[in-house]
Amino acid sequence: MKFGHFDDKNREYVIETPRTPYPWINYLGTQGFFSLISNTAGGYSFYKDARLRRITRYRYNNVPIDMGGRYFYINDNGTIWNPGWSPVKTELDSYECRHGMGYTIIKGKKNDLKAEVTFFVPQDYDGEVQQVVLTNEGSAPKTFKFWSFAEWCLWDAQDDCTNFQRNFSTGRVEIKDSTIYHKTEYRDRRNHFAFYYVNDKIDGYDTDRDSFIGLYNGFHNPQAVLDGKCTNSLADGWSPIASHYKEITLKAGESKTLVFILGYVEMPQDKKFEADGKTINKEKALAMMEKYNTPEKFAAGMAELRAYWDKLLGILNVNTPEDKVNRMVNIWNQYQCMVTFNLSRSASYFESGIGRGMGFRDSNQDILGFVHQIPDRARERLIDIASTQLEDGGCYHQYQPLTKKGNADIGGDFSDDPLWMILSVSSYIKETGDWSILDEKVPYDNDESKAKSMLDHLTVSFYHIVNNLGPHGLPLAMRADWNDCINLSCFSDTPGESFQTYTNPKFKKEGGYSKIAESVFVAALFTYVGPAFVGILNHLGKKKDAAKAQKEIDKMKKVMMASAWDGNWFMRAYDANGQKMGSKECQEGQIFIEPQGFAIMSDVGKEEGTAKKTLAAIDERLNTKHGLVLNNPAFSKYYIQYGEISTYPGGYKENAGIFTHNNAWIICAAAYAGEGDQAFKYYSEIAPAYTEETSDIHKTEPYVYGQMIGGKDAGSDVGQTGKNFGQGKNSWLTGTAAWNMVAISQYILGIQPDFDGLKVDPSIPASWDGFTATRLFRGARYNITIKNPSHVCKGVKSMIVDGQPVEGCVVPFVEGKKEVNVEITLG
Ligand code: BGC
Ligand code: NOJ
Repeated sequence: MKFGHFDDKNREYVIETPRTPYPWINYLGTQGFFSLISNTAGGYSFYKDARLRRITRYRYNNVPIDMGGRYFYINDNGTIWNPGWSPVKTELDSYECRHGMGYTIIKGKKNDLKAEVTFFVPQDYDGEVQQVVLTNEGSAPKTFKFWSFAEWCLWDAQDDCTNFQRNFSTGRVEIKDSTIYHKTEYRDRRNHFAFYYVNDKIDGYDTDRDSFIGLYNGFHNPQAVLDGKCTNSLADGWSPIASHYKEITLKAGESKTLVFILGYVEMPQDKKFEADGKTINKEKALAMMEKYNTPEKFAAGMAELRAYWDKLLGILNVNTPEDKVNRMVNIWNQYQCMVTFNLSRSASYFESGIGRGMGFRDSNQDILGFVHQIPDRARERLIDIASTQLEDGGCYHQYQPLTKKGNADIGGDFSDDPLWMILSVSSYIKETGDWSILDEKVPYDNDESKAKSMLDHLTVSFYHIVNNLGPHGLPLAMRADWNDCINLSCFSDTPGESFQTYTNPKFKKEGGYSKIAESVFVAALFTYVGPAFVGILNHLGKKKDAAKAQKEIDKMKKVMMASAWDGNWFMRAYDANGQKMGSKECQEGQIFIEPQGFAIMSDVGKEEGTAKKTLAAIDERLNTKHGLVLNNPAFSKYYIQYGEISTYPGGYKENAGIFTHNNAWIICAAAYAGEGDQAFKYYSEIAPAYTEETSDIHKTEPYVYGQMIGGKDAGSDVGQTGKNFGQGKNSWLTGTAAWNMVAISQYILGIQPDFDGLKVDPSIPASWDGFTATRLFRGARYNITIKNPSHVCKGVKSMIVDGQPVEGCVVPFVEGKKEVNVEITLG
C-alpha cells in the first residue's frame, strides 16, 4: 500500500495522509541551523550540535508518537484543528505534505478554510522560516482564531530531560512587539538566545507552557485554544514556550499570509545587552527578521534554495529505463547523502541527538556518497578526520564535531577504522584529481607538533593492518570490525557493559583485546582498499614502496585462501578461542555477508572460481524479497564469545537483519563479477523507491534508506517467524546512503572516477537497451550514451570519445576540455 507519490519534476515526495505507518520526516538546513520536520510538523531545531545547542524541545519515544513540533492551531467557531492534522487530530477535509529538497509544505483544509504552511531554512541563515497562507474558500466571510506554538529546550538536550530540580527554575523570556525571545541563562554564561517572530501585529501571546496548555491537558487540547484566547503569560521558570495569538477575519475568497521566523542568535560578550545591562540587544535579531519579513523575501529565499539544489543535483544525472532508478540517483539518494554529510549520525527519529559523536569509519564512508557534490567540504572533512588519527595508524573510533577531537571515552582499537581513511582519500583524489591533499600537513591526535603529510597518514593506516596480524596471518579483530556487534574479546556477562568498550580483565595484559581473534572481513577490506594505496604510490613514482605494499596484499590473499575460504564462501572470523565463525561447521551463523563482497572485488581465489560460488551461496542462503540478511542461520541464543550480535532476537539488526549498508557491497560485487541481473535484483529489493508500493510493511520513508530491514527470521524469537519481515527501521542517517549511491552509480551504471580519468564500465540488467547520463567531472561535462544491442549485462565492446575510438573503458582526462561526448556499445 502507498501513502503518497513521487513528484519527480518538483523533486518532492507527496504524502497524502497524515496517518503514515511511521512519522515520515525531512531535514531543513545545510550549514549551522537544522530542523527535523515530520509530515505532521513534529520535530525540532538545533544549532550545529543537536545535544549542546538544542533550540526546541522534542519528546522521543512518546505516546502518542511524534510529540513536540512547530504547531499552528486554528479555532474556527469551536472547530479546533491543525494544518498538519497533529496534535489535535481533527479529521481534515483535505491534507497534503510535500517533502522537498530542504523544505516542507503542509496543506490542510477544514470547513472551507485552507492553511498552507511552507517551512525552510534559508542558505547562510540561522533560522527556520515559516510562511502560513490562510484562505477562505467559502462564500461567506469567516472569523477565526489563530495560534502559533513552539516549546523551548533549555539548550543542553541531555540536561533538559534529566535535571529538573534546577531547570524548572531557570527558564526566562522577553517579549517585544510580535517577537518572543528565549533567553534562559543569557544573563549569566550564555551568549546566545533564540526568538520566535511573526511579521504582523498580534492580539496577545503566551510564553508559559502551563498557562497555554494547562497542567492536565495535552498538545491536542491546549486550554488557551479551547477557551479561544490567550493569557499573555510571562514564563518565569518551569517550561518557557512561544505562542503568538491572532484573531483573523477573511472575506469570501480572501487570503492572509503570515511569515514566522524561529531564529538563533549569538552575541559578542560586550554587546549582549542594551544600556540597562539586562534587556537583550536585539540588533542582530532584528536584522534577521528584516531579511524574510515579507512574502516576496520569503519567495526569494526559496528560489535561492532551489538554485542551490539545482546545482548540487546537476552534477550527476541519469536516464535509465527505470523511473525508480532515475529518481533515486538523480534526487533522493543524493539528497540523503548530503543530509548524512551534514548530520552524521546525530539527529533523526532514531538517533536522539544526544548520543554519539562523529564515527571515524562512518564519516570516511559518508565521503563516498557526497564527494562529487561538494569536494571542498569533503577535503576539509578528510583533514578533520585524519587529524584525530594516532601516530601508529590506530584511530579514535569517534570524534566530537564541536571540538573536532578524538573521543577518549570511546577509545580506539576498532580493526577496520584505518582502512576507510585510505578509501575516502583515494576516492577524493579520483573525483577531483587534487593530489595536493597528500602533501597537506595533518596532525596526529590533534597535536600540531606531530603533524605529517596525509600520505604518511595513509601509510600508517595501511601498515596498521600489516602490523597487527593474528595466528593465521589474518588481521586481528581487536575490539570489533565494521560489525560493531561482533565482540570477540568482550565475554561480557554483566548488564549494561558496553560491548564495544568494555575490556575483559582476561585481555588486559594484551592491551584490551585478544591476540587470537582474527577478522576475515578486515582481510577482505584490506585487499580491496590496498590497491588504491598502491595506485597512489605508483602515481607518485614511489615504485619500491608500491611493490612492497603490493606484496602484503598478495600475501593476504594467499592467507585468505589458506585459512578463510570455507569451500563456498569466506568465513567471518576466528574467535578468541581460535574457533571458526561463519563456517559451515558452525551450528548457527554459518555464513556472513560482510567479507564476501570485498573478497570478490579483490579477486581473492579467482583461479578457483570463488566469485561464482560465493554469489551462488549468497543468493541461496542470504537473499530474500526484501534484501540480503546479514547472517544465516540467525543466532537463537547468547554466545558469550561473540557478544552483542547474539543479544538481538533473530532477524533484527546485526543478527540476521537486512543491513542495507552491506547489501550494497554485494550489489557492487555482483556487478563487478559481470552479474548485472543479480546486482540489479539486490539493488531493487532495498532501494526506497521500490519499497514504496509496500509502505505498509516497510513502514519508514519510501524516499530514503534505513539502516535495517527486518530479515526472514524476524519474529522467530516469539514463534512467529516472518512477523516483521520487510519492516524498516533507523531511516536517514546511515552509511547505506553512500554505499548504495556507489553501488548504483559506480558499479551498476558503471560511471566510476579513477585516478587517470572517468571510467565507464556498466553492469546492467541484460534486458536494458542502454541508458544515458551526464556527469560533471573535474570541470567538464561528460555526455554518456550506453547502447546495449546484444542485451548483455557487462562488457565494453567499443568506446567512442568525441568521435574517436578509444581502447578500454577509461575516458582519459584532458585538462581544459569543457564537454566530452562518450558513446559506448556493450557486447
Ligand atoms: C548497534 C550497531 C551500532 C552500535 C554502536 C549497536 O547497538 O547494533 O548498529 O553500530 O551499537 O553504536
Ligand atoms: C552502525 C554503525 O554506525 C556502523 O559504524 C557499524 O558499522 C554498523 N552499525 C554495523 O554494526
